[in-house]
Amino acid sequence: MRVVFNKKIALLIFIFCLQTSFFNAQDNIPKIQFPQGEITSVVLEAKIDSIINVLTLEEKVAMTHAQSKFSTKGVERLGIPEVWMSDGPHGVREEISWDAWENAGWTNDAITAFPALTCLAATFNPELSGEYGFNLGEEARYREKDVLLGPGVNIYRTPFNGRNFEYLGEDPFLASTMVVPYIKGVQKNGIAACVKHFALNNQEHLRDKINVEVSDRALYEIYLPAFKAAVQEGKVWALMGAYNKFRGQYTTHNKILNKILKTDWGYDGVVISDWSSVHSTKEAALYGVDMEMGTGTDGLGTTTNNHYQHYYLANPFLKALKKGELSEDLVNDKVRRILRLIYRTSLNPNRALGKMNNKEHHKVARKIATEGIVLLKNEDNFFPIKDKKGLTIAVIGENATRNMTQGGGSSQLKPLFEVSPLEGLRARYKNAKIIHTMGFESGASVYDEVVPASLNQDSLYVKAIEVAKKADIVLFVGGLNKSHHQDSEGDDREVFALPFGQEKLINGIQEVNKNLGFLLLTGNAVEMNWLPKTKGVIQTWYLGSMAGHAIADIVSGDVNPSGKLPFSFPKKLEDNAAHSFGKLSYPGIDENQYYKEDILVGYRWFDTRKIEPQFAFGYGLSYSSFKISDVKINQKKYSENDKIKVTFNVSNTGNREGAEVVQVYVGKYKSKVKRALKELKGFTKVNLEKGLQKTASVTLNVSDLAYYNTEISSWSLEKGTYYIYVGNASNNITKKIKFSIL
Ligand code: BGC
Repeated sequence: MRVVFNKKIALLIFIFCLQTSFFNAQDNIPKIQFPQGEITSVVLEAKIDSIINVLTLEEKVAMTHAQSKFSTKGVERLGIPEVWMSDGPHGVREEISWDAWENAGWTNDAITAFPALTCLAATFNPELSGEYGFNLGEEARYREKDVLLGPGVNIYRTPFNGRNFEYLGEDPFLASTMVVPYIKGVQKNGIAACVKHFALNNQEHLRDKINVEVSDRALYEIYLPAFKAAVQEGKVWALMGAYNKFRGQYTTHNKILNKILKTDWGYDGVVISDWSSVHSTKEAALYGVDMEMGTGTDGLGTTTNNHYQHYYLANPFLKALKKGELSEDLVNDKVRRILRLIYRTSLNPNRALGKMNNKEHHKVARKIATEGIVLLKNEDNFFPIKDKKGLTIAVIGENATRNMTQGGGSSQLKPLFEVSPLEGLRARYKNAKIIHTMGFESGASVYDEVVPASLNQDSLYVKAIEVAKKADIVLFVGGLNKSHHQDSEGDDREVFALPFGQEKLINGIQEVNKNLGFLLLTGNAVEMNWLPKTKGVIQTWYLGSMAGHAIADIVSGDVNPSGKLPFSFPKKLEDNAAHSFGKLSYPGIDENQYYKEDILVGYRWFDTRKIEPQFAFGYGLSYSSFKISDVKINQKKYSENDKIKVTFNVSNTGNREGAEVVQVYVGKYKSKVKRALKELKGFTKVNLEKGLQKTASVTLNVSDLAYYNTEISSWSLEKGTYYIYVGNASNNITKKIKFSIL
């Protein structure tokens, strides 16, 4: 069912057609040296035009909507292949049935699960992001996909968003810097990355109804930069619309697609709808979405008889085109973009065959996981824990054994294996004795309902206390999971505190054993009233196939932690900007929502309002210690086209090798417009042996300090005094230097 016609035969027919005069409508167009030669964009565009000339209206329309859950039609008579897609963003999803969300029951589709994108963001290592994309792209290629539905770059606005774990944090500069190499890495395989969800899809609650109202400044300065970087620097080939509305119009067919994305940014790729985010033929035809996927129609679910024909961009579109109600130019533009996608992917003769589950992929997954783990607290050097005879470590908590790649929505994966934290610790600790008990049970992991726990929670509690008493050290492995109302697509979290009675359990354990460390598995910030009860806390995120090994790498000290938080942890929910403005700001009233915090998202809010976070953006400890000194800038006065070179010395003052992330923020002194105290404009990760030091630098473009000026609907660089702030966390600044822009 999956293969309507063989792709290889299609490719050969297509190449043949290209090399004959069939498509060479204009004789002055040079013949394509295909497949060996380079194909220039001028030639390609001419070819695409000639293809469009020979396609019937029916064939064109058929290319603009789904033919199954995850594919669109090709044109068999011309050898134009189908387009096959798969979720993303942390691994290639298992095969899904042709017409239903159920898995297709294949036995050869188990993959490598890479760490969740929050973890990738926490590495602050763009090079690693490139490796992530490349290795994941190889798996997508092996699985014969053309488009990988990821990465997601929606900004972290509230810790309640069920999908934050799939995104790259709260800062537009960090998200932009990390997304570009990921895209390039995926696309090196001839697989399109599909950056999602454009735009303002910052919560799951009422996601397909909520209307977002936000200022132009916040739109351009906070919510769009990562998409812009994906398009202009990452040269992404596909982009996904979102479910929500923006200023009263659904974002999948919203004026911003033509205006901002396709015109201002010059995006030449395909806009794919989110699954069932198209709501009108006319709007979809006019406002920028090129491929309609996942729409529920009357036939869907009850019959497979031609229900795809009822999609907004199927028969209704064809009818309107035929009647002349919609111009044929509209469908031609969509088809042109789809053909570009096909040339870049399935008709790219140079793409390799891909790989899956090879050692290198597992190695890379582990490296990203260990580099992204963040050490949050380490009283009395609680971590690392040495493996020694006579030591008993109690591992307590459901997350020590729970599968964290199942559930969570469309990002859920079927990995070949998933090393749990308990398995990872057991594999690493050969001398110490590891004892384990579940501690709490949360219930089954399902998409849109909560299946209650079946075990007796009181008995689990009593047992946990008994086990904790017997141990020298307790590692509590808890946090959230991938069930509904946790870190999961489809709805948001409902409480900020730890769920499933974990706080009570931690308090109980601490009364009998003070040597308590916490491995926190979440994709979101949680309330931490329990923090003083612990000696050490490690934020481990969701780490995929190699989770347990990566956790053991850090707990044992085989790897020195160097991850930094990609979003702020508030002490209490109301300290978060979106929540502090009440219901209209989050989660919205009567399906309308105003982003009242405006540009003050994340640390911008904490800094500017002088609210102390629990843990700040950019924060993360090491088993070593570092000193940043001799911070200098190359000039004191700059003009618009200059670059600011910030140099500094980093020394490793501890007693083991490690890495420090030096962060460079900039703030305007006495601005004429509203500004955050400071904004991240650059960073670098410096690796150092113990006792060594290094001079490093970060270079900024003065033009990147502009703000979005709503009076002229464009960017303005304000003249006057600014400050550069250099430190190793947004709330730990070593040096502040004044400069001016003339
Ligand atoms: C999600 C997308 C996903 C798509 C296909 C949607 O519900 O929002 O991110 O790619 O489903 O599974």
